Amino acid sequence: MFVVRGGRPLRGRVSVSGAKNAALPIMAAALAARGTTVLRGVPDLVDVTTLSQVLQSLGMTVERQADGALELTAADEQRCLADYEMVRRMRASVCVLGPLLGRRGRACVSLPGGCNIGHRPIDLHLKGLRALGAEITIDRGYVFARADKLVGTDIYLGGSFGSTVTGTCNVLCAAVFAKGTTTISAAACEPEVIDLGRYLNAMGAKIEGLGTPLLRIQGVEELNAVEYTVIPDRIEAATLLIAATMAGGRLQVDNVEPMHLAAVIDVLRMVGVGIEIQGRTVCVTAPERIRSVDITALPYPGIPTDVQAQLTALLSMADGISVVTDKVFPDRFMHIPELMRMGANVRREGASSIIGGVKTLTGACVMASDLRASAALLLAALAADGESVIRRVYHLDRGYESLEKKLNQVGADIVRVADLPETMPASLQLSDEEQQPLAVDSSDSPPPPKFLSKSEFARHRIK
Ligand code: UD1
Repeated sequence: MFVVRGGRPLRGRVSVSGAKNAALPIMAAALAARGTTVLRGVPDLVDVTTLSQVLQSLGMTVERQADGALELTAADEQRCLADYEMVRRMRASVCVLGPLLGRRGRACVSLPGGCNIGHRPIDLHLKGLRALGAEITIDRGYVFARADKLVGTDIYLGGSFGSTVTGTCNVLCAAVFAKGTTTISAAACEPEVIDLGRYLNAMGAKIEGLGTPLLRIQGVEELNAVEYTVIPDRIEAATLLIAATMAGGRLQVDNVEPMHLAAVIDVLRMVGVGIEIQGRTVCVTAPERIRSVDITALPYPGIPTDVQAQLTALLSMADGISVVTDKVFPDRFMHIPELMRMGANVRREGASSIIGGVKTLTGACVMASDLRASAALLLAALAADGESVIRRVYHLDRGYESLEKKLNQVGADIVRVADLPETMPASLQLSDEEQQPLAVDSSDSPPPPKFLSKSEFARHRIK
């Protein structure tokens, strides 16, 4: 868990790591390459370790080199099973489905199962793969997919909540091996999908239209391994910019692709933040007070759902009322009750939260429920008066490389401690007096409640 002493402004310079959500599908796509792939900028995260284990179980060697590069080689191409024990730890493991089917013609991948941010089916992934000619059955919690030869076709991949990011990745990785031409319409336009497409093209794939909802793929026989560098993590960058806005101060964030953050930067400017952009650096100056604003999380280029929780934490300190809606994951609001333990004033209404801004948040003991919720709680703790304890920060370790170290280098006070009750800071313990039962003062206290008689009850009854 983290013990955070709030109220310290952030000043200095931090650098953003490579994007988790780009690295994971790219690592999975290395399954389909001939030779040794060298990936640079892959962050050192629990999710990367988990996917490395999945890939090793699928006959890959995966090694982190001294210079930080990740080397992957398909040593045994007979294996096709991604086991439940691994997939349940990280649903992005499902990204191996498309590459396995495309290259090895078979895949047996556990269905990912439940998730804290809402219902997350993979029906669109399966629809796309079936359209390419794969035979797919679901049995005992596993997806069994088989195809002697995939055949190019026209696929519509939109769903009730818009496009699918990992679904587009899976269908793309299979379609690059399909005979003839495939088109994918309503494809996801996220920068991470573009990055995967560029990586596949560098290996010899023929994909056009990356970054648009219409992809056109000309099938090829083989992909040859290459060296590739993944894009910077736009969600980490957004989290750092919001951290400085909430804690106060001035922070320079390096290794950012500002285009990827256009929607987040727009929100920050609307709430009063000073933003300067120079090349791949974004400098943020916190305002005296934060203005309220209504925002909606949407597929790219909209505000990312992965920043919704952090922006909710920010707007909980704004002057006035804000409405935050999530149209990608309409149930992604687990962070709200915990933010309320820190003094936030938030009411949930369907896919929205209505936030009445408060002047200050106060330190409290809170529990992280998922990756981005834990980031939101950490940001709230940095801005809060007093000390906070954040439990279950293993969620944070899944997706942020050295976040507490980076924040401590620019002025935060975050200490990682073992999750033991005795480490609760004294400032969060109740005093002896606060723990006493309320004393009953018979002179001032109101008379005890009187039960209604039968006739009184009849008079009060709603007719
Ligand atoms: C990816 C990201 C995740 C991010 C999400 C939305 C990775 C590893 N994870 O997740 O961090 O929050 O995109 O930007 O890249 N849906 C269906 N059927 C499907 C697939 C999805 O109905 O077959 C729905 C989902 O329930 C959700 C919406 O579509 O409501 C978007 O989900 P999707 O883009 O697939 O999310 P992921 O790829 O799982």
